[in-house]
Amino acid sequence: MLPIQFTPNQHFMKIILLGYMGSGKSTVAKELARALNLPFLDLDDYFIEKEKKSIKEIFETKGEIYFRLQETKYLKEILENQFDTVLALGGGTPCYGHNMELIKKESQSFYLKGSISTICQRLRSEKQQRPLIASLNDEQLTEFVAKHLFERREFYDQADQIISIDKKSVDELLKELLVFIKKS
Ligand code: S3P
Repeated sequence: MLPIQFTPNQHFMKIILLGYMGSGKSTVAKELARALNLPFLDLDDYFIEKEKKSIKEIFETKGEIYFRLQETKYLKEILENQFDTVLALGGGTPCYGHNMELIKKESQSFYLKGSISTICQRLRSEKQQRPLIASLNDEQLTEFVAKHLFERREFYDQADQIISIDKKSVDELLKELLVFIKKS
């Protein structure tokens, strides 16, 4: 695959990292932003700041449909502004509404792709903060992740680049991402 290069007349530099929960979107996006000297944004954090509630609370009090509608609203808000940024999405963001169309139109996107076992291994220790998986035991978690990844694949696979995360360090991922990114 050839690296995508930004053309000089392209007026924005929005880079999006997407992928399943536990794929390291926020950690890697933060490092990428630092390397490119761009601001870093996390859609989940932006959401929490705007709604003044945790995502867990939002799911519990207002439900997932409200969460998805607001998530789309905030994604648009960020993508419509004039600022260059490295943005980490929530795991489900590309899969609802017309979000993936918007992501493709307004950014250079990267799918951080993990195998079922990599994802489950990472999620096992941090289930509690994540409303979708908090109540699942290990066996249920594997089944849930496998099914979910299968359903979401058609959206995630539309990213400009797919980067495998299995057995890679943050530094290795960063180097790989930077090959594809040329600042205009
Ligand atoms: C979700 C992933 C979460 C968060 C919400 C729903 C999902 O984000 O947006 O709990 O549907 O996969 P992270 O992937 O940043 O954990």
